Amino acid sequence: MINKTVEIAINDHIKHELYSAYLYLSMSAWAESNNLPGAAHWLQAQFNEEQGHALKLFHYVNEQGGRVTLQAISQPPGEWTSLLDLFQQVLEHEKKVTALINRLYEAAAQEKDYATQIMLQWFISEQVEEEQSAAQIVETLKMVGNAGHAVVMMDRHLAAR
Ligand code: FEO
Repeated sequence: MINKTVEIAINDHIKHELYSAYLYLSMSAWAESNNLPGAAHWLQAQFNEEQGHALKLFHYVNEQGGRVTLQAISQPPGEWTSLLDLFQQVLEHEKKVTALINRLYEAAAQEKDYATQIMLQWFISEQVEEEQSAAQIVETLKMVGNAGHAVVMMDRHLAAR
């Protein structure tokens, strides 16, 4: 049976993962409307991944005999000034998620919930990858600049995800 404090904290985090999905879907809509189909594709793949993260926690709570309680998801922003601005926001968002995962791990440790700590190790590794891939895109976008042809090349690169 799952610890009640941990159950509440995981339920809260399911909302954050679903908000991440919602944010990336909104970013994808922005990319579509700005003729950046590669970026739109990358962001939709990210939308799918975030739903997978939420479901992983959803199934874990159920497997541990807990109760999933879904919460309201906030409206995400819908406008960005450039592709670089958008990916800088992706990176900032992932840093926030990393901090939330760390806090969740700390809650599980405090409650001596070892099973949840083991489950969360996957998320800790995943966050390292998520931050790394967003940071790489930000650095490349800074290097190539905002000229039309550079953004088109970057968009083609993002389409390969
Ligand atoms: Fe599920 Fe991008 O954190």
